[in-house]
Amino acid sequence: MNLKPDYKKELELAAKQMILVHRMDTLIKLILRTIIRNLNVGHVGFLLYDKTKDVFVAKFSRGSGGLKIPSGFVKVNKANSLIKYFTDKSTRVLGDDYLLLSELEGFLKSKKRKPKKLKTVLEGVKFQLSLYNAVACIPGFFRDKLICILFLGQKTKQKKFTKEELGFLSVLSSDVVMAIQNAWFFQDLNKQLERNKTLFLQTVMALATAIEAKDKYTSGHTERVAKYSYFLAEELKTMKKIKSQDWNVFIENLKIASLLHDIGKIGVKEEILNKNGSLDKYERETIEQHALVGYMILRQIDELEYPLLGVKYHHERYDGHGYPEGLKGKQIPLIAQIISIADMYDALTSDRPYRKAMDKEKAAKIILEVRGKYFSPMIVDAFLRLYKKGLL
Ligand SMILES: [Fe+2]
Repeated sequence: MNLKPDYKKELELAAKQMILVHRMDTLIKLILRTIIRNLNVGHVGFLLYDKTKDVFVAKFSRGSGGLKIPSGFVKVNKANSLIKYFTDKSTRVLGDDYLLLSELEGFLKSKKRKPKKLKTVLEGVKFQLSLYNAVACIPGFFRDKLICILFLGQKTKQKKFTKEELGFLSVLSSDVVMAIQNAWFFQDLNKQLERNKTLFLQTVMALATAIEAKDKYTSGHTERVAKYSYFLAEELKTMKKIKSQDWNVFIENLKIASLLHDIGKIGVKEEILNKNGSLDKYERETIEQHALVGYMILRQIDELEYPLLGVKYHHERYDGHGYPEGLKGKQIPLIAQIISIADMYDALTSDRPYRKAMDKEKAAKIILEVRGKYFSPMIVDAFLRLYKKGLL
């Protein structure tokens, strides 16, 4: 037997690995590397069906003797002889599982009668194989549909492929097809998720706009709070207060929470929201309700579990004198602390019913004064670093 002792095992292992790979490029690299490593072939090529463009795209290994064409450069359509050969049963005269150049040449030279159409296709296939510098190719089908074709270059020392090797490659090729189907499925799923996410964010933005329409003094407030919150989070990341592995999820939740932080104001009467004088106890309590009302509105949406913390607790204070629950110090979720300071800075630097906007320097000074009272020292430090960078 010409097989290396652990050859079979390694290919089985590769098949198992393949099914776990969801990125097509990584998958193809894995397939090509497995074959090169186990079969002693100079190079391997791969034609993969691209269902969005309805063409086959070529990928090559880095083995010696292959074509010096960059991967993905060659695209062939269904009129290509090789594709025709494998997609048309009537021309597939040399078997379904593989095609050997030597057998093809033998068949063409033989005295057997060949219809003209068949001869043309087979001559075309021979030419294609010479282009790819291949002596064998193995098709991969899903049901009856051609998904890929593997090209194998000459084996080292001019050895021939054994029947066993070819049989095994054929098995591998059906594993490859399963892995490709699997990767496609994940790609489609991801696209779907991406679309849903965009739609979701657009809904969040629409809701945020609805709040601003009610409160005439807060035009642009939500967006500015979202922007400052983002900068603060970035600063906290450079200060190593947010782990980089948590970053993507954190920033997404922060974006949603900061855009929706005042959503509860939808339930507050406009006369109170836009009142021009000082508020009485009832009015103040009504406004303070907005944190809880926002929480009640959004808690029905499962995806908002973490952003909800920002909505509910963005008026808590570090010293425990905030609302709605009077949380203290580290009990206040980071997402709420960030929104809280961004909210206050924007409130200070914009016009309000009861006073004119403050300049930035004065606002920063006030925030420094409430370090350890309203806000944690850490968040004020991050704020001041940002302020000094001129990012606020
Ligand atoms: Fe608020």
